[in-house]
Amino acid sequence: MQGNQASLAVTTASPSQAGKNVLRTYDLTKQYGARVAVNQLNLEVRRGEIVGFLGPNGAGKTTSIRMLLGLIAPTSGRVELFGHDLANRRDSVLPHIGALVEAPALYLHLSGRDNLRAVGSVLGGVSQQRIEEVLMQVGLHERQKDRVRTYSLGMKQRLGVGIALLNNPDLLILDEPANGLDPAGIVEMRDLMRRLADEGKTVFLSSHFLVEVQQICSRVIFLNAGRLIADKTVEELTRGQGEFEVRLERAQEALALLQQQPWGKPARLDESGALLTPAPQGSGRELYAFLSQAGFTPESLAPATQNLEEVFFSLMNAHKGDK
Ligand SMILES: Nc1ncnc2c1ncn2[C@@H]1O[C@H](COP(=O)(O)OP(=O)(O)OP(=O)(O)O)[C@@H](O)[C@H]1O
Ligand SMILES: [Mg+2]
Repeated sequence: MQGNQASLAVTTASPSQAGKNVLRTYDLTKQYGARVAVNQLNLEVRRGEIVGFLGPNGAGKTTSIRMLLGLIAPTSGRVELFGHDLANRRDSVLPHIGALVEAPALYLHLSGRDNLRAVGSVLGGVSQQRIEEVLMQVGLHERQKDRVRTYSLGMKQRLGVGIALLNNPDLLILDEPANGLDPAGIVEMRDLMRRLADEGKTVFLSSHFLVEVQQICSRVIFLNAGRLIADKTVEELTRGQGEFEVRLERAQEALALLQQQPWGKPARLDESGALLTPAPQGSGRELYAFLSQAGFTPESLAPATQNLEEVFFSLMNAHKGDK
């Protein structure tokens, strides 16, 4: 078995729960020859947060996660888990972490339940009841006796999350847990993440599924070419820039009028034909009054928001060509 070694260490001491930072990195860097895969990364994850770790292919997400789990050594910089240096306190902190890095390593000739038993016996102290709970949690109760060889990709992925959950960890670090899942599987994984959040777990997950990330994460960290380029709450990222989205008839005419106003120059139409515009004194009420007086009656007028996908693409555009 490989890939889940992080959860296999034997517990010796309970890490301090006092610090609010569950995870912190200091100038974490990994270099492969001339290529800097992760470049002076400073990130923090606080207790109870669900943090999304986003970035295009090759941005350095998996490399960072491998360093967080002590699977590879940083070239420079360091990792702190539960307030302790990973390099010094590896054996005491790793048992409090559940991890899934890329595809889970599973015994294909064993059943799902026996895979959990096998890992449980290495971890020690994992009861049959805990195994049952985890099977329910990841939705594999019905298929627990079938060999993993017969599982779909999504089922294998969920079993991987099950293994990460086995020791009831304080922090889950998941690298693309929804990788390879169909839409229903993605929704199931999202619901599982939500339940874990409700239980007060702290989750750090990388993903390319931005709709799900927007729904489950409280904060997102964007990585590009090994560097952190944004670290914001989902609320901050998706909130519009004080603009309003207006739906109305004769939108082209209204647009021309708005663009003549000193406050309305950035006004534009989006692909759906809605007007995106600033408002006089930033007030939606003033904007409504202005349009009405000019003979336009808005069907709807609301503060504009951006979805995470739009934010992602505009950030990536702004950092195109970064090395
Ligand atoms: N063992 C290695 N040897 C050399 N280069 C590596 C190694 N592992 C990763 N890299 C390089 O480091 C960079 C970051 O890779 P990484 O796998 O961390 O990206 P990622 O963000 O996880 O991408 P993806 O979204 O495709 O999973 C890439 O340029 C990759 O080629
Ligand atoms: Mg990766």
